[in-house]
Amino acid sequence: MDEADLKQEITRLKRERDAIILAHNYQLPEVQDVADFIGDSLALSQKAASTDAKVIVFCGVHFMAETASIICPDKRVLIPDLEAGCSLASTITVEQLRAWKREHPDAVTVCYINTSADVKAECDYCCTSSNAVKVVKSIPDDKPILFLPDMFLGAYVAEVTKRRNIYIWPGECHVHAGIRPSLVLEMLKMYKDAEFLIHPECGCTTSMVYYFGNGNGNGNGNWSRNGSGYGCVVSNSSGNGSSSNASLVKFLSTEGMMRYAKQSSAKRLIVATEIGILYRLKKENPEKEFIPISNDAVCKYMKMITLDKVYRSLRDMVYEVKVPEDVATKARRAIERMLAIN
Ligand code: 13P
Ligand code: SF4
Repeated sequence: MDEADLKQEITRLKRERDAIILAHNYQLPEVQDVADFIGDSLALSQKAASTDAKVIVFCGVHFMAETASIICPDKRVLIPDLEAGCSLASTITVEQLRAWKREHPDAVTVCYINTSADVKAECDYCCTSSNAVKVVKSIPDDKPILFLPDMFLGAYVAEVTKRRNIYIWPGECHVHAGIRPSLVLEMLKMYKDAEFLIHPECGCTTSMVYYFGNGNGNGNGNWSRNGSGYGCVVSNSSGNGSSSNASLVKFLSTEGMMRYAKQSSAKRLIVATEIGILYRLKKENPEKEFIPISNDAVCKYMKMITLDKVYRSLRDMVYEVKVPEDVATKARRAIERMLAIN
């Protein structure tokens, strides 16, 4: 079948199965085209929680489909390829988490949504890149926090909240870890009129937060809530004494980037995250220019979901993701606490 036929068949099967297709912002363009809803981890969980459809075809990675199954135990959640994992989620096992908790018995545990259901079940709160700061701020100041598993997001949250009692698990995503500070500084010199959208999972986050947040690069040193994320106005100086233009560096979830790009007056935006998001950014903002910080920022797991596999998933009702009820009940608490904070 060619692409047009596949898309037609998918639309037909969706109706027949009473299914909804949820797709993450990093999905392939043709997969985004057949989706009923596209978003970041938080928006996708909220959509899963509110849909009336009987079947959810989750075009994303495994932990996202697990989250949907935890939130909607009576729905059938399908993932088109079971191998679509996440390098960040694999950096911590439930055994490692239990051992870490034993070392800090008084701590509150906050897990990023990029974790397995087993790990979520051992945590007090879940969070995503769009609400991690909010979740941490909701926890009493005197309570130590174990934040897992992303060290860059953890360092970002610690800096924005100015909280010093956060212990951070040393995990990272192989795609975002490759986005180093030198890359951002190079682009800052090259594009003086651009705004920078940075995902807090990036390897540059910690340095950039300190660099701009502490008054370097002519940063004002003040982190403030601005639209859908936290930003810091900086002067985009090349550092060689040349004149500089005002520029904004913002740390945003993928959906935060979508929202921000729409309302920004900048004509050119540099995007520091997985390149799949560029399709939607360009489609929804044709008058603006979006430049990926690195063309190598490709998540091979996200790209495992092809149109062919979405079709097969609906046709054969595969592959079901079902979290055992005892694990789901515990994990649901952490997710529901997060959703309540939003
Ligand atoms: P978002 O929730 O910002 O979409 O991030 C999910 C993710 O896996 C980023 O790599
Ligand atoms: Fe996981 Fe990184 Fe892929 Fe996001 S980009 S799904 S964190 S491996």
